[in-house]
Amino acid sequence: MKSVILTKYGGPDVLKVMNLNDLEPDENQVRVKVHYAGINFAEIMARMKLYPGGPKPGSILGGEVSGVIDKMGPNVKDFNIGDKVMGLTLSGSYSSQACIDVNSVIPLPESFTLREAAAFPVTYITAYMMMFDLGNLQENDTFLIHGAGGGVGTAAIQLAKTKNIKIIGTSSSWKHNKLIKMGVDKCIDYNKENIYEEIMNFTNGKGVDLIIDPIGAKNWKLSYSVLSKMGKLIIYGDQNLVKGDKLKPLVAMKEIYSMPKYKPMDLMANNKAVMGYHLGRFKGHEWKVKRSINNLIKLVNNNNLHPIVDKNFSYKDAPKAHRYIQNRKNFGKVLLDFSSI
Ligand SMILES: NC(=O)c1ccc[n+]([C@@H]2O[C@H](COP(=O)([O-])OP(=O)(O)OC[C@H]3O[C@@H](n4cnc5c(N)ncnc54)[C@H](OP(=O)(O)O)[C@@H]3O)[C@@H](O)[C@H]2O)c1
Repeated sequence: MKSVILTKYGGPDVLKVMNLNDLEPDENQVRVKVHYAGINFAEIMARMKLYPGGPKPGSILGGEVSGVIDKMGPNVKDFNIGDKVMGLTLSGSYSSQACIDVNSVIPLPESFTLREAAAFPVTYITAYMMMFDLGNLQENDTFLIHGAGGGVGTAAIQLAKTKNIKIIGTSSSWKHNKLIKMGVDKCIDYNKENIYEEIMNFTNGKGVDLIIDPIGAKNWKLSYSVLSKMGKLIIYGDQNLVKGDKLKPLVAMKEIYSMPKYKPMDLMANNKAVMGYHLGRFKGHEWKVKRSINNLIKLVNNNNLHPIVDKNFSYKDAPKAHRYIQNRKNFGKVLLDFSSI
């Protein structure tokens, strides 16, 4: 099989294609002939040695795929060879083959292409669990999505549009027209505008009910300040750590020292909540993810949702794909294409 390997920590060019032996599924796994692998920001951080507990040099990166089952372990009953599927791999998806635990395999919704399917698992499950499980997002709530034009951001917009929810999105300004077309009610350019003032003016001083924030320390402070009564802030990433191509110790130190410290009595007195979400940390509680996937798939089918794929790159161009995302060029998801193998 052909796989994209993290040869060492560093810039995008540390990603190299290698020929490896074919995989054998274990008794509870299916082997997928991969068509597309989704790229997630986590892999950019992992490449830069910025992801706690992330893959080590010598590993295959990647957390999600779409493709066709070509081999199954003896305990697998619910799938057949030839089934089109998508799934979560935790690591090892930048490859022409991936073995996936049967609990993490998701049958393809009928209306999905394999290209759309690779853009689905990580971003939609993450958005869904934050919005409707942790975040308890309700009709008529106001919802602030930081990084609205990214993978998780565009998934969150689509899911929010299935209900009557007012959406505020922050992103680079060139994405605003696309965000408005998707139904975002208020766009804010975090580079140029005063986010606090824009939000408070838009909400008549009331603030917002739910915020999903993967940006980092300074932004979490701002997000907390614009929470409404019963407002919830969900922290699920730290993109501020990524500056340039490689880990910068000073940037990391500054980020760590700027982290807000929330005081329990303040949370109570202000009727605010701060929570964390990490899709990769459900060991022993996988059923909670499975339950959300079932509800999510119903929502997707009932509303005919389709993931937004910005662009796919040949697997040979994985460094270009990482650079494209790091240069903030993507609107929606970026994929690696293994379909020709
Ligand atoms: N906790 C979890 O389980 C979980 C799961 C999935 C994703 N995440 C997190 O969610 C965030 C979004 O993930 P994603 O895969 O959907 O990525 P993404 O949003 O597609 O990431 C790329 C976009 O992020 C924005 N950005 C903000 N800071 C950046 C920086 N320092 N360098 C480059 N781009 C930056 C840029 O958009 P603008 O310029 O428009 O802002 C860029 O286009 C990431 O922090 C990721 O780690 C967490």
